[in-house]
Amino acid sequence: MRVVSGIQPTGSLHLGNYLGAIRNWVRMQDDLEPGSECLFFLADLHAISMPHSPAELKAATLEMTAALVACGIDPARSILFNQAQVPAHSELQWLLNGTARMGWLSRMTQFKDKSGKNREGASVALFTYPVLQAADVLLYQATHVPVGEDQKQHLELARDIAQKFNNDFCPEDAPVFTLPDPIIPPGAARIMSLRDGTAKMSKSDPSDMSRINLADDPDEVMKKVKKAKTDPEPLPSEEAGLVGRPEALNLVSIYAALTDKSVADVLAEHGGQGFGSFKPALGELLVETLSPITARFTGLLEDRESLDAILARGAAKARQIAGPTLEQAYRALGL
Ligand code: ADP
Ligand code: NA
Repeated sequence: MRVVSGIQPTGSLHLGNYLGAIRNWVRMQDDLEPGSECLFFLADLHAISMPHSPAELKAATLEMTAALVACGIDPARSILFNQAQVPAHSELQWLLNGTARMGWLSRMTQFKDKSGKNREGASVALFTYPVLQAADVLLYQATHVPVGEDQKQHLELARDIAQKFNNDFCPEDAPVFTLPDPIIPPGAARIMSLRDGTAKMSKSDPSDMSRINLADDPDEVMKKVKKAKTDPEPLPSEEAGLVGRPEALNLVSIYAALTDKSVADVLAEHGGQGFGSFKPALGELLVETLSPITARFTGLLEDRESLDAILARGAAKARQIAGPTLEQAYRALGL
């Protein structure tokens, strides 16, 4: 089993990233059987598909590396690196551009969303970046790729590209690429904004009060939870009572994710409680979970050289795995 997953190094991590993605990466890493491995990368090449500041990208890449290690990604056990240090990602993307079809990419809903009304002004990279994503996983013969709902379509595309390449250019008994399977991690929670229970918690929300950042100090965390939008009703004792109450459901879901309990179990314990007492309990739980992460994160950020060294070592390991696949792909194409 080889698990490959990436995250864009744009800004600091928030609770949604942690509970929806990173915590599951850590659990996969911790639960791996001997002989299996995890590769986690900072998708810095993807970041240039949107307008960006070079100085901020460099800083964000190191910051995200610190955040991942602080959350429990262990560079001694997992291969942690940034794409830009492994040129094989860009090379394989070009090779796969010959296989990917315009029609396939035109159907990607993320391109439609992110290019918006200004299709003509979007970068070519924004259009072709799902091909880079395919390269990201095919390069390592990934067997499993953890994906959120929003990335399922791109993984399907990666499988289509791999299949067409294998069909068009490889003998039947010697395909170059493994078709990766999506894993939707069972404990992956979808965390909503603290200001609007129907919008996803996101770093692109202009209001910092809408999200808990991993770098927030305990006072900020408590304040944000206390100010989170809710309704005046106490918590119901059963899930049905949360229908039509997205903000309440969100807070209960965060509590459930943090304690690894079901929403039903949390309600069984806290049903009847008002938010005046549930919010402080949730705030304390968040502080308890996040403060060790924040402390490690702050410490790591002060040691840029170690972060650089982590990425350099990870990239060296990644290049070793990528090399043979890239070479086979060149050969299959007659290059
Ligand atoms: P953002 O929406 O803040 O820009 P990204 O799109 O960079 O976050 O997502 C990084 C990872 O975190 C992805 O795996 C994504 O599925 C996950 N993620 C982001 N926001 C949330 C959320 N609110 N709840 C659960 N998972 C999330
Ligand atoms: Na996003």
